[in-house]
Amino acid sequence: MTEVLTTELTTATRDPSSLLKELDLDKPQFLALVTRAAQLKRAKAEGTETPRMTGRNIALVFEKSSTRTRCAFEVAAHDQGAHVTYLGPDGSHIGHEESIRDTARVLGRMFDGIEFRGFAQDTVEQLADHAGVPVWNGLTDSWHPTQMLADILTMTEHHAGPLEQIGYCFLGDGRSNVARSLLVTGALLGMDVRIAAPRDLWPPDDVIATAHRLAESSGARVLVTEDVEQGVAGVDFVYTDVWVSMGESVETWGERVPLLLPYRVTEKVMLASGKPDTRFLHCLPAVHDRSTQLGKRLFDQFGLDGAEVTDEVFESSSSLVFDQAANRLHTIKAVIVAALGD
Ligand code: CP
Ligand code: NVA
Repeated sequence: MTEVLTTELTTATRDPSSLLKELDLDKPQFLALVTRAAQLKRAKAEGTETPRMTGRNIALVFEKSSTRTRCAFEVAAHDQGAHVTYLGPDGSHIGHEESIRDTARVLGRMFDGIEFRGFAQDTVEQLADHAGVPVWNGLTDSWHPTQMLADILTMTEHHAGPLEQIGYCFLGDGRSNVARSLLVTGALLGMDVRIAAPRDLWPPDDVIATAHRLAESSGARVLVTEDVEQGVAGVDFVYTDVWVSMGESVETWGERVPLLLPYRVTEKVMLASGKPDTRFLHCLPAVHDRSTQLGKRLFDQFGLDGAEVTDEVFESSSSLVFDQAANRLHTIKAVIVAALGD
């Protein structure tokens, strides 16, 4: 009896409905979630959505700030009849007095699913190893898989052809979670995926190697280049992200600005695609003007009005960023309904 109890307390199987990184999914599984998101989006718009998660409880654990991801999980859960509990960077014992492994075994006994946003990928993996319920990665330093589902949904909504004909280029910090995720996602799905970044900020070698390996079977075209013009030539979507990610020192701006200035998304970069209908994407939040504390600081320190994208491009008719943000809701809903729906 004691033995059985001990085993039960120390081991749990990782739930197959967990989403810890893009490569937890194969191409059909990834696309099934995107299709489901499109259906849920339509149902909500038409007022025909059916709650399929009544009485379910979801924990939202955030070591870092969030607007979109947190709100998307909360609204998605509410739309589907589920409840959420938010645990922010302060106010719980997580990481201070209680290990992730112990926290996982507590939350797994109270909740039907757990979202986690934080620093180390290992933390979300540990959570999944010990919770015994689905765990979803809402962003770590390594990957941002729920963002990718929203991005692919957005691209398919704005491109008439098959996925394999869609090309996109990420410009900026190629080592960031979003850049790494975009690279492996495009490679997984057989797309034309490019990263344009200074060599010092290329994705790690193992991530590039993984993308090339995936491309061998998916037929993807994978390019990592320092050359902006080569990167954006012929693409349907130009994508960028902040130059300094959450958790990186504010001092990093000093070295990043000169390194990344040539990779800033300007009207000239958009035109360099050579296509009249190339669209702009950004996971948000964006530094595109002086309306934030950070934007003001960048202007004072570097004379720069906006960083990774000009306000002109951000506010242009080519910019899909707010539709992209809205798709976070529908895609996150697809993830939790697929895992916990009746
Ligand atoms: N794109 C994204 O993850 O936004 P939040 O940081 O606001 O969640
Ligand atoms: N790379 C950014 C993405 C924010 C959604 C960060 O990690 O801060």
